This record gives sequence, C-alpha cells and structure tokens, in this order.
Amino acid sequence: MDAVEVEELSMTYRVPVRDGGLVAAARALVRRQYRDVEAVRALSFGIPAGQVVGFLGRNGAGKTTTLKVLAGILHPTSGRVRVLGQVPWRRHNQYLREIALIRGSQPIGDAPELTVLDSFHYQQVLYDISDGDFRRNLAELSELLDLDGILQRQVRAEPRRAHEGGPRARAGLPPEGALPR
Ligand SMILES: Nc1ncnc2c1ncn2[C@@H]1O[C@H](COP(=O)(O)OP(=O)(O)OP(=O)(O)O)[C@@H](O)[C@H]1O
Ligand SMILES: [Mg+2]
Repeated sequence: MDAVEVEELSMTYRVPVRDGGLVAAARALVRRQYRDVEAVRALSFGIPAGQVVGFLGRNGAGKTTTLKVLAGILHPTSGRVRVLGQVPWRRHNQYLREIALIRGSQPIGDAPELTVLDSFHYQQVLYDISDGDFRRNLAELSELLDLDGILQRQVRAEPRRAHEGGPRARAGLPPEGALPR
C-alpha cells in the first residue's frame, strides 16, 4: 500500500459570477449565477512511504488544489484518495497530527504576535511532541536553517514570503521536522 494513493481525483470549483453594476448585483441576490472551473481532472498517482517527490506543473495546473485535497482542506468533487490509509477530508485529529502542509506564501499559520519560538511551542502542543523530541529537533533544525537569530522575534517581523528574504520561510520548516518519525 502506498503512503499516498490517488485515483481519478477530480476537483471542480463552483464560482459565483455576475455582471458589473447595481442591477446585476440586485439580481444576483435573487438568482445567483455560477461558473464551473475544472482545476483537476481524473488525476491518479501513488507515492510509497519514505519517498521524496516533486510535483511540477504550469501555473494553474492544479498542484495547490491537489495538495489541499491531500491535506484535508478541500473535499474533492470525485475520486478516491487515501493518505496513510486515511480519507484526508474526514480530518481525523490523528490524521492531521501525522501530516504537515507548509505553504510558501504562509509558512507559519500562527498568530503574528507570537515569537517564532512561541509559535514552535504552539506547534509542539498541536502535534503532541514530547519535550525531548522537541528540544532535539529544534537544536538540529536551528543549526541547519540558521534560526538562532530569529527565535525571539515576533512572527510578524519576518518577511512574509520566501522570496522576500527567507527567515520566515525557513522558520516554517521546523514543525514538520518536529513530527515524530
Ligand atoms: N478557490 C478557487 N475558486 C475557483 N477557482 C480556483 C480556486 N483555486 C484555484 N482555482 C482555479 O483552479 C485551477 C487550478 O489552480 P491551482 O491553484 O490548484 O493551480 P497551481 O498548479 O497550484 O497553480 P500555480 O502554479 O499558479 O500555483 C486554476 O484555474 C485556478 O484559477
Ligand atoms: Mg499553486
């Protein structure tokens, strides 16, 4: 059994549309018009446990949509998906603790008032990581990613996107590294 199993996955977004102007806005209150956007069509693949893979495609090809389905954020239109034997969109706590999704545009999802270290502690609680594992992972990843200088700074102080300078994007990595494996 593959760690990630995807069979005939399809996802179509239903997007409300209307013409500009007040009349159209009022009409949309009574009768909304929708347009279908086919983001993923009949996608199948499998990834064995322990394999590191890249997922490439042109802009708008459906990569983020697929990852959101695998992470349990989106319920797909059709298809069969199992990750670690679980149906992601059922969002079982145990499943959510086994996975991490780090997005380039939003590497840390926690409150921006927290310091980077506080946000790691928050992740420690969420993922139920023991103090020993947490300390070990933090030491290893801080050195690897050169995080010492930013641990005491507020998350908001770090550049938002990876291409804006890095520290916040680097700081997005440790929670996943802190997963017990
Ligand atoms: N929330 C949404 N509502 C409607 N359409 C969406 C939504 N999210 C994505 N789409 C559309 O679905 C298609 C696939 O988008 P998706 O973001 O999954 O692609 P991507 O491969 O991640 O693209 P990129 O390389 O630009 O990040 C695109 O046509 C996009 O416009
Ligand atoms: Mg994307």
